[in-house]
Formats: sequence, C-alpha cells, structure tokens
Amino acid sequence: MTISETAADPKPFWLSDNFAPVFSETTEHELSVTRTIPTELKGRYFRNGANPPSGKSEDWFLACGMIHGVELNGGKATWYRNRYIQTPLLEEETPSQESRMKLENSIANTHIVGHAGKILALAELSLPIEVSKDLETRGPYTFGGKLNANMTAHPKICPITGEMLFFGYSFMPPFLTYHRASASGELIQTEVIDVKGGTMAHDFNITENYVIFMDLPIVFDMKLRMEGGLGIRFDDEYGARLGIMPRNGNSEDVIWFEIDPCYIYHTMNAYEDGDEVVLDGCRLVGYMTEGMVKPPLPKLYQWRMNLKTGAVTERQIDDLGVDFPRVPDSKVGQPYRYGYTAEFGQDTPTVVAFHKYDMPTGNKTSHHLKNGRTGSEAVFVPAANGTSEDDGYLMSYVYDPAADKSDLIILDAKNIENDPIAVIHLPARVPAGFHGSWIADSE
Ligand SMILES: [Fe+2]
Repeated sequence: MTISETAADPKPFWLSDNFAPVFSETTEHELSVTRTIPTELKGRYFRNGANPPSGKSEDWFLACGMIHGVELNGGKATWYRNRYIQTPLLEEETPSQESRMKLENSIANTHIVGHAGKILALAELSLPIEVSKDLETRGPYTFGGKLNANMTAHPKICPITGEMLFFGYSFMPPFLTYHRASASGELIQTEVIDVKGGTMAHDFNITENYVIFMDLPIVFDMKLRMEGGLGIRFDDEYGARLGIMPRNGNSEDVIWFEIDPCYIYHTMNAYEDGDEVVLDGCRLVGYMTEGMVKPPLPKLYQWRMNLKTGAVTERQIDDLGVDFPRVPDSKVGQPYRYGYTAEFGQDTPTVVAFHKYDMPTGNKTSHHLKNGRTGSEAVFVPAANGTSEDDGYLMSYVYDPAADKSDLIILDAKNIENDPIAVIHLPARVPAGFHGSWIADSE
C-alpha cells in the first residue's frame, strides 16, 4: 500500500505517497527489462535519499540515508540493492542534535559520488561515508586523517585535472572552508574563506580556473530549530554574494559579486567566457521567509560576473519550476550546451517531468511522466565513443503507483521526449530522494 495523507492522520509530504520510507533492504539479481539496455553500459547507478527507519522525521532533509543501486553489465541488469548507510544515528528514532554534531555520525543521505576509486555517501554537515560497490558501509572517510571537518554533498570533480574541489560550511566559525583533493584522492589544500556569518551553503561550482562560492542569506536560528525542523530562515539583512576564487587561491583572492537576494540549492554548471564567469542555477525567491506557506518553485537563471569590471548581470532562462540540474560529468566547469532538469509538481517536490535545455537558446525538449508516475533526479550517462555532447542516456528511478514499485528508466539523451529505450523493473519501491551518480567500471 502507498501511504497517503488523511484527515485523521495528516502526514507531511516527506512521509506520504512515494516520499514515504521503505522498511526492508532488498537484493535481487537478473532483473526483468522491457526493451534493451545498451551493452556498452557497464557499472552502477546509485541514488541516495532520506529514509527514516522509524518512519518518523522532522524534515525531508533530516533522516538517515538509504542508497538504491542497479548494476548493469552486457545488456543485463545484474542486480538491484537498497542499503542503509550504517551509522549510530540509525538506532535513534529521531537523531538528537548532539548525536548529529559528531562529524563521523553522518546521516549521509544527500549524494553519492565516485572519486579516486572511492565511493562516498555525503551529507553536508558530516564527514563523507565510504561505501563499497555493493553498498556495504565502510565507515567515515577522512582523506587519510587530513579532513577534520564536514564536507558538502556537492563536491565538483574537474573532468580535465581529475581534482575534486569542495567546501564545508558551519554556523559557527570558521563559517566557510575550501578544500581541494588531487586526482589520486590526496587532500592537497584547505583554506578558511572569510565571510561575515554562517549561512547554509548547499552547493558550489567550478570553472577551468576558479571556484565559485555562494554566500546566500539562509541562516541558522536556534530558536526555530528548537521548535523542530531545519531551524533555518531567510535573513533580510545578510545580502547575497557569489565569490570567485582561483582554485589554488585563498580568502584574500576571492572577488565577491553582490546579487539580488535569493536562495540557490543547486547550480547546473559554470564556465569561463572571456572576462566573464557564467553560473547557471535554480533560483528561489521567498524561500524560508516569514509567512512562507509552501516553498517557492525554483526557476532556472543565469548570472554573468565580469572579473575585469566587477559587474554582474542576472537573467531568467525559464519560468518552469525545475531543480536537480545536471550536466555530463565531462562538462562540469566547462562551456556546455545541454543541461538536464527535473520538473516539480506545484505542491510538493514530486518530479513529474524531465527537461533538456539547449542553454544558448533556452529552448527545451521534455519527457512527461504518464499515469501518475513520478521520477527522481535524472543523471546523464555518456555513450561509448560519443561524438556530440548529448550522445548518451538519462537515467532515473520512476515510481509506478499502479504497481507500487519502481523502475530504472533509460532515456536516449538526444531524444528525451521518446519512450525509454530500456525500463528495468525493480522488486520494490524506490522513494523519491535526492542525488546520485553513474559510476562506470572504467572509473
Ligand atoms: Fe542537493
């Protein structure tokens, strides 16, 4: 049965319908497939999400993480597995603030990335948690003892140098810290970045030569936290800035650009264009302001920052409510043409469609989910020997309410409006979740 809201038992959206957790860890081999999995796809698709073992959670973002994975090999889906990230927090019905404060006690629910042969499950206020290819938890990952602080769930891996660039934020000083790991996974730089206060910095971005920090006015409020939930609010006084720093620079090198106050959970990509640094992302206006009834829908925007003149311009690319923006891993920090997003429903962050934006024009092609089916973030997977940027596939978990089970769908990224080229039928429901990665065997 699906869990739905009733007058007698009102549940917040994150415990309702396909946001509700699943309570078993399942393993199934040799999955049934409709149509054809490309034989070139060899690796694993992993996606993370919040899955409270108690069935209770104060907020969508605050529950322990569960990874859902599918392995593909030789045109077959060889297995599906879902596994909790093992953490002491699993033992607590609602993890206390004190337990969460321990760096190694990660809910690890937000993202899962591969770098330097490691697979890391990430949540932004904790250390990374290493997992194996078959989703067994190996434990907190500290870059050989060098990382003694929390790590964002949105590191960026440079497709040119192989470096992983990331940061951590805190509501206590130091508020913002930058880190750079080499292609082989050695932590080679850590810098405290001066900002005037602690703000929730969920994502950041890179270009060929720079990193871009987002110092946006969502602040922590202990009084709100004591009332339950995330304990964050929009601060009218704080202002909003984007900071550009050479990748090997330090706090003194950051050039800050004031922008219209807003919040940005997720950036699509960034790149250099002459004297300008361009950042594309999903912009929220009115998020966590006093009197917010429901979260506003994020809209795709572009900011252009001129490093010579200090000028910044902002423009809206589309009016549709979209998030989970992704580009091919090979285009992260590079000029690019196509960006992929998921469209949210009006009342909850339920994914109802996928969109492919031709960024220079803002035109889009779309894949609308039918018959009440709902999706998840869509991840671009390159084709073997591809010659154009969109030679590849989009993968996403899609929930079918009629079957109360989910599929992993594979779309042709060149023609996302078409029916999936493959639908891999899973033995269980995959709840709506957050972010994931395709980690090829060749990586
Ligand atoms: Fe995120």
